[in-house]
Amino acid sequence: MGLSRRDFLGVAGGVGVGVGVDRLVLPASGGVGAGQRVAFYGAHQAGIVTETQEYVQFGAFDVVSDSLEDLRMLLVRWSAAAALMAQGEPVGSVQTGVAPPVDTGEAVGLPAARLTVTFGLGPSVFGPARFGLEDSRPGPLVDLPSFAGDALVAGLCGGDLGVQVCADDPVVAFHGLHSLTRLASSVAVPRWVLAGFGRTSNSRVQRTPRNLMGFKDGTANVMAQDTEGLSQFVWADRSESPGWMVGGSYMVVRRIKMLLGGWDATGLDAQERTFGRRKLSGAPLGAEREDDPVDLNARVGGLPVIPANAHIRLANPAYNGGQRILRRGYSYVDGVDEPAGSLAGGLLFICYQRDPRVQFVPIQRRLAGSDALDQHTEHVGSAIFACPPGTAPSGFVGARLFD
Ligand code: HEM
Repeated sequence: MGLSRRDFLGVAGGVGVGVGVDRLVLPASGGVGAGQRVAFYGAHQAGIVTETQEYVQFGAFDVVSDSLEDLRMLLVRWSAAAALMAQGEPVGSVQTGVAPPVDTGEAVGLPAARLTVTFGLGPSVFGPARFGLEDSRPGPLVDLPSFAGDALVAGLCGGDLGVQVCADDPVVAFHGLHSLTRLASSVAVPRWVLAGFGRTSNSRVQRTPRNLMGFKDGTANVMAQDTEGLSQFVWADRSESPGWMVGGSYMVVRRIKMLLGGWDATGLDAQERTFGRRKLSGAPLGAEREDDPVDLNARVGGLPVIPANAHIRLANPAYNGGQRILRRGYSYVDGVDEPAGSLAGGLLFICYQRDPRVQFVPIQRRLAGSDALDQHTEHVGSAIFACPPGTAPSGFVGARLFD
């Protein structure tokens, strides 16, 4: 562990000059997510296969300028700032005398906390009469259709740009979104934001955490170590995506409210039959351990052991043309549920995939209206973003879109 002091930072787009603060920076150790710092630069954007951090701050932004150059410069500035913050550095000076501090300062003294920032572009960026990018819209970046039971609230949906900031420290994550919001001003403004905690696991070396319903979440995920699964299901390729998206991924976000009052009053057996897994062990019904295989054919007394409407049956690849998604969601709490008086919590469901047309959309069609979980949840927010590939320090995220 050591202290670093940087007196001057010159970065693309003019972000961050004249830094005069000490910032505790822990040494990086090898491997994605293994150390305290996760490199911002690389072939893929960080924050997708990065072992899920403890906290998220998600922001969807509307671009208020109609200038393509403004959009490009915003991505330049954001990329430079994200790279600094991933190293545990402020985005500018805190000691500015009469002028407002460039960096807001709340993360001073905190480690990088494996901060990652993942940027995405929504379908509206490619709309007519926006930036002239109609011809660059990727086929997989569809407008999500409506699904049975949707209870979407307009203000919690969509966005021209999506920014997923994750970190193992909640203040570091907040500082990330706070800084990017300030850097965006006059070009983009937040449309909806949500803070989350209690991650879904996406790595074999992570213990599987529990969601707000008390069940382990992430057991049968596409795992960070599964390189074959990642190229098959997560990374965009030429076969379905334009050149500027190759090596990127499509992110679908759903704000799913959990009706916790009713769930908490549901018997354990019924809770377990809803998911098709045991609550404490996470094992599939009919099995012993969390990692035991799911036997969808097992029957007892003529009835399926994993009920016909159980969440893990309907979400299983066997029911979805062999398709899978990388889930990277977080729990959230957002006030009090009226009129029941229970906590208004839920899942900020975030998933990454190569083509939502054959992954999220059909899987959600299969679940919506049929999944036993539907009685206990409500989809209130929805968005989709194309997350370009990663970048080298000489470039910025999304650069090839502007070639
Ligand atoms: C509040 C809403 C949701 C909750 C609480 C929830 C919870 C869970 C839990 C506890 C599991 C079993 C453990 C695991 O494998 O992670 C699971 C599995 C899964 N969920 Fe969800 N989920 C929700 C919504 C969704 C949605 C909207 C989708 C996709 C459209 C989805 C797709 C999946 C998939 C693909 C699996 C793995 C199935 C398998 O192969 O066994 N989930 N979910």
